[in-house]
Amino acid sequence: MIHTSLRKKFSYCVLAFVLFAAICVWKERKKGSYYGSLKLQTNEFQEPKNLEKLTTGSGSQHVSSRSTQVPHQLSRTLSPRVPHKTKPQPTFQVWNKDSSSKNLVPRLQKIWKNYVRMNKYKVSYKGPGPGVKFSVDALLCHLRDHVNVSMVDTTDYPFNTSEWEGYLPRENIRTKAGPWRRCAVVSSAGSLKSSQLGQEIDDHDAVLRFNGAPTANFQQDVGTKTTIRLMNSQLVTTEGRFLSDSLYNEGILIVWDPSMYHADIPKWYQNPDYSFFNNYKSYRKLHPNQPFYILRPQMPWELWDILQEISPEEIQPNPPSSGMLGIIIMMTLCDQVDIYEFLPSKRRTDVCYYHQKFFDMACTMGAYHPLLFEKNMVKYLNEGTDEDIYLLGKATLSGFRNLRC
Ligand SMILES: *[C@@H]1O[C@H](CO)[C@@H](O)[C@H](O)[C@H]1NC(C)=O
Ligand SMILES: *[C@@H]1O[C@H](CO)[C@@H](O)[C@H](O)[C@H]1NC(C)=O
Repeated sequence: MIHTSLRKKFSYCVLAFVLFAAICVWKERKKGSYYGSLKLQTNEFQEPKNLEKLTTGSGSQHVSSRSTQVPHQLSRTLSPRVPHKTKPQPTFQVWNKDSSSKNLVPRLQKIWKNYVRMNKYKVSYKGPGPGVKFSVDALLCHLRDHVNVSMVDTTDYPFNTSEWEGYLPRENIRTKAGPWRRCAVVSSAGSLKSSQLGQEIDDHDAVLRFNGAPTANFQQDVGTKTTIRLMNSQLVTTEGRFLSDSLYNEGILIVWDPSMYHADIPKWYQNPDYSFFNNYKSYRKLHPNQPFYILRPQMPWELWDILQEISPEEIQPNPPSSGMLGIIIMMTLCDQVDIYEFLPSKRRTDVCYYHQKFFDMACTMGAYHPLLFEKNMVKYLNEGTDEDIYLLGKATLSGFRNLRC
């Protein structure tokens, strides 16, 4: 009697366990497909900075999501292209310009809230918005008139002191760069791999690349031309290779480092994010003839203010991504800017960079920069087709030069 009731109990236990295991497996699968759809929107101009910030910024990045939300098509929407009369046009699922943080997995929302709470750069936005609506032309004018793309200059204290004499380029960047007609901004996204975009990219009058993104061995996919290389200060500060790698010897270099929110150059100089100044000077001594500029540290915040103004919700109080900064820099120098794999194509992947074989959730998610809103803006301003985004990862924006405001 005792024996059979024990057996009965045991088999109930086994049954319960099997049921539990089945539910677990089902949940895992669901989670997997949700990540699949999320990754679409975050694979960009990743830089070591993001990773570093994410790792130090939040301990939660390895905690896996327990999302039970219904998967959203947050980054995909059917293209509203008008169908042709005789031949129906195919539709392409591309970035939705109204993507919202509400659709992010709870893990990312938590990281987001951590950044808001930390408010490292002491952001206190007092401008209009959030959610101010502009027409495309009005937004372009707004960007042109409020984001001052210029470089630190020999008259800016303390760069006017003897300690800095001879280090900054004497010529204004505008005499070295542009004006150009058609420009390309090339992200470092893993989705550039096997894109065969090299020729198309090289056909532009000028090409901007980021950080340590190479062209050697990747010409087929990313081209060979580098006219401008935009680098974050972390790379210039910490990467020993920066001074010796010939990768950096081509084109015009620009390094950027964020100030505290709208702090001026003297204040920033006392408290940079990364103190890159010694390496900058060393590089200038080694390569005195290569133009190498320092972006005015206020510029990222001037851009950030507009991102916040037009976004309907609170965005991360961290500077925009290198990718977004590079796009704006090229918009000031070119009539037209083609941007590759900022808005993800059909080749979207979890691989962080086209030139490195690593996968990292943090890298793909890009929770540090207000990337989601940068992409919403680029999608809104895009003058190309959804087909170009889907097939080539290409968005096309008008430059500022021929705007009539
Ligand atoms: C942009 O910044 C530079 C350097 O500080 C300054 O000389 C120039 O007047 C500014 N331009 C505008 C439009 O504010
Ligand atoms: C550098 O600029 C500061 C602030 O504009 C000014 O007060 C100072 O006299 C300048 N120094 C030199 C050596 O020109």
